[in-house]
Amino acid sequence: MAIRWYPGHMATARKEAAETMGKIDLVIEVLDARAPQSSCNPGFEGLRRQTQRPALKLLNKSDAADPAQTELWLAHYNAQPGVTAIAVSAKNAREISRIPRACQALVPRRGTATKILRMMILGIPNVGKSTIMNALLKRHVAHVGDEPAITKKQMFHLLGPGMSLIDTPGMLWPELSQTAALKLAATHSIGRSAYNDEDVALELGNYLLAHYPALLAARFGAIPTACDGAAFLRLIAERRSLAKKAGDIDLARAAEALLNDFRSGVLGRITLERG
Ligand code: G4P
Repeated sequence: MAIRWYPGHMATARKEAAETMGKIDLVIEVLDARAPQSSCNPGFEGLRRQTQRPALKLLNKSDAADPAQTELWLAHYNAQPGVTAIAVSAKNAREISRIPRACQALVPRRGTATKILRMMILGIPNVGKSTIMNALLKRHVAHVGDEPAITKKQMFHLLGPGMSLIDTPGMLWPELSQTAALKLAATHSIGRSAYNDEDVALELGNYLLAHYPALLAARFGAIPTACDGAAFLRLIAERRSLAKKAGDIDLARAAEALLNDFRSGVLGRITLERG
């Protein structure tokens, strides 16, 4: 089943973000450090380059990502003109406190009471934008939740005396490739109704077998040679005794188990694309 998820409010939000882009000095783009390429919205990037706005790219959830890959992705983004990339975990207050200084360094001519540094924060759904906003503003302003696409309108906030920040809803793009969609479904940036857990877990299984076999073995036991994603889901179902009423193995529950273990970080620190 092909994954398509572009609810109407995202098209509206994209138009609003395009209008706002002309009125700000800097874009803060939140990426998922576990999928640093697929979580980078090409629509935002096109708009930003067109309007020549610098960007602070935050590789968030870096606590859950493979540290060696995060280093490679940081080098990739830091090599781009007008871009500073830093790895953060929204749950780590010290890391979030580095953000205003990094923004200021990108636009040194602004950031005073008379010359406010105007910023907009963008990101795909569930990337941790609300958690970052709450930590930045040091009070609860944005709803944090695990179900993607909760915030639906732009919000304006003052961030100290010399900075303002416009929050935007999580946005995807209509031409999202299936390769990217499968990764973003695994990281839970796509609404559950738009995909089948088994399709996503099968791809995730194939990738983890190729790149993180030791983490899988630590969690699920020894893995036979020449095991692929489909065989791996069967192995989980058998080892966890996941059976349907009729006695057949329950692949849907095995898929759910693998996705939950990846999302919760129980499997370990994993990045779904190589830097
Ligand atoms: P959004 O606004 O971009 O949609 O994302 P939001 O902040 O609502 O965060 C989505 C989920 O990601 C939340 O999990 C949040 O806690 C988690 N999250 C955000 N930043 C980080 C991070 O840096 N590291 C990790 N590991 N998780 C992060 P949740 O399932 O709603 O629950 P909970 O974690 O709050 O219990």
